[in-house]
Formats: sequence, structure tokens, C-alpha cells
Amino acid sequence: MDFEYFLGIPEIDAQHDEIFTILNTLLEALASKKQRHLVGPLLQQLRNKLLAHFANEESFMDAIDCADQAAHKIKHKEMLQLLDDCIESLSSPGKAEGLGKIIDENLHSHVVEFDGKIVETVKDLFDTLRTHESSDKSR
Ligand SMILES: [Fe+2]
Ligand SMILES: [Fe+2]
Repeated sequence: MDFEYFLGIPEIDAQHDEIFTILNTLLEALASKKQRHLVGPLLQQLRNKLLAHFANEESFMDAIDCADQAAHKIKHKEMLQLLDDCIESLSSPGKAEGLGKIIDENLHSHVVEFDGKIVETVKDLFDTLRTHESSDKSR
């Protein structure tokens, strides 16, 4: 996974790394006629991994009362729907070609735009903690 997509939260970063690894394998399979039979199983694998990751990320967002989490959760639902649409469209010839690009763009922009809010909320919590500690010491 490229450095710019690391959030600095080890559990989430490890899951994103796994997701991007599956995505890259899927993109290779889409680009190769010989590997076309792998596209369906890889899409399913990516969907399963995303489902587990989103559940994990959403429970963490609840725990820290993350900013913009309602919109974030809607984006997770939309992403799963996109994967379902892609899996369904595999039976139509010629549809697979554009899929990789759409999934690729959506996943990368999601991490930057929405998962980045988790980092901002964690930083705010640390700032609050530091301020609280220093006001405690000055008493
Ligand atoms: Fe997310
Ligand atoms: Fe994520």
C-alpha cells in the first residue's frame, strides 16, 4: 500500500493493506485474458473483506464518536452495493473492463476522504486529553 494511504492506526492500516492487495490482484486478473476466471472469486473475496473491515471500522467510529460517521457509514453501504453490482454484471460480456477502475478510484478516495476523519477525531481526542492533563497539573 502506498505511504499516502497509511492512517497511523495499525489495525485499520493492516486491514487496508489486505484490501489493496486483493484489489491489485483483481486489477491484474481484469487485465489478463488468462486470469479472467479469477475475477468473480476475487470480487467476492474483496466484498467479504470489505464487509468485515467496514463492521470493524464502524464499531471503532462509534467508540470514539467519530466526526461525519453517518455519511461515512452510507459510503460503506454504497461501496458494498457497488461490489454487488459488479459481481452481478460479470455475466454480461464486456462489462468487466470498466469495473476495476471504478472500484480502484472509489476505494482510494474513500480512505483519503472518509477514513481520514477517523485520524482527525483520534488527534482531537489526544489534544483534549493533553489539555485536560495540563489543566489538572496546574491546579
Ligand atoms: Fe471507511
Ligand atoms: Fe477503511
